[in-house]
Amino acid sequence: MQTVVTGAAGFIGSRLAERLVAEGHQVLGIDCFSDYYSRRLKEYNLRNLKEADNFSLLEENLLELNLPETLQGVDWVFHQAAQAGVRASWGEEFSVYSNSNILATQQLLEAAREVKIAKFIYASSSSVYGETDDLPMREEGRTRPVSPYGVSKLAAENLCQLYHHNFGLPVISLRYFTVFGERQRPDMAFHIFIKAILSGEKLTIFGDGEQSRSFTHVDDVVEANLLAAESSLEGEIFNIGSGEENITLNETIDLIEEITGCQAKRDYQSRVSGDVRHTSADLSRAKKMLNFSPEVDIAAGLAGEVAYIKEVYGL
Ligand SMILES: NC(=O)c1ccc[n+]([C@@H]2O[C@H](COP(=O)([O-])OP(=O)(O)OC[C@H]3O[C@@H](n4cnc5c(N)ncnc54)[C@H](O)[C@@H]3O)[C@@H](O)[C@H]2O)c1
Repeated sequence: MQTVVTGAAGFIGSRLAERLVAEGHQVLGIDCFSDYYSRRLKEYNLRNLKEADNFSLLEENLLELNLPETLQGVDWVFHQAAQAGVRASWGEEFSVYSNSNILATQQLLEAAREVKIAKFIYASSSSVYGETDDLPMREEGRTRPVSPYGVSKLAAENLCQLYHHNFGLPVISLRYFTVFGERQRPDMAFHIFIKAILSGEKLTIFGDGEQSRSFTHVDDVVEANLLAAESSLEGEIFNIGSGEENITLNETIDLIEEITGCQAKRDYQSRVSGDVRHTSADLSRAKKMLNFSPEVDIAAGLAGEVAYIKEVYGL
């Protein structure tokens, strides 16, 4: 298949592109190397892909590309590019979120409609749900984000649904729940925690650490993308979370201590607005309709992330 992966230099996009390349697909990665985190980490994400004959990279902002021309002959689009991060989405920075998350998605959908692609997979987020007591979160449940980032991800997901309903664009949205594993973004909790623990530095926890998440391994997220692309389904939205019981941040820190053999210096600070207290994914639709079955457990996934952090920072 001819495929496009937007955000290919990022955490999830680079892992997905590697899997597609390994399966023999032709992959065009698009990424503007946004300055949200260091270019060095993104170059490191791409190091294996750059060796592959069936991978090429377009270093461009989606908003500056001639997208219909770029998508000519493409079968599958995996739209992973976005301005990520909940906490940075307040204030002046919101223009970056509205441009990269909403406007870029709309322009990509227009182009995909024009060239009649076979499948468009959108990387949505559990942040579309916001704060709720109605757990686990179900796809048909209420969506009321509590951060501007979540608003932007929901707006783009709604655009995907619109392009499906109005123009028959074959779209599937996958709502990822906190993704972890090798290459996790440096602003995300496990990356920060592991680095701090290995370096003997203080580790800041926002809140009491009892907030819980459905931590989802990146390999399971990649698998969900492949299942969605290969399925005959269209216009569907699926939760993509872990199959395990939800785990608190405090418990994950205990686990990292066990894996590294180092003691964490925990520093509890007040909660940050926009952070949801609990997320929990109802996976029944994804299991039944996509045959999705998460496989990587938290301990194995964290061990892989510890090895990555040691390697990338020489710790
Ligand atoms: N990591 C998670 O836990 C998580 C959870 C839910 C949803 N998601 C979604 O998954 C996707 C991937 O997230 P990630 O954690 O890999 O983030 P990431 O920041 O590592 O990757 C995103 C990439 O997109 C690129 N990008 C951003 N705007 C662009 C633009 N306008 N044009 C071209 N490239 C652009 C960035 O340079 C970056 O390399 C995002 O859509 C994110 O909203 C991630």
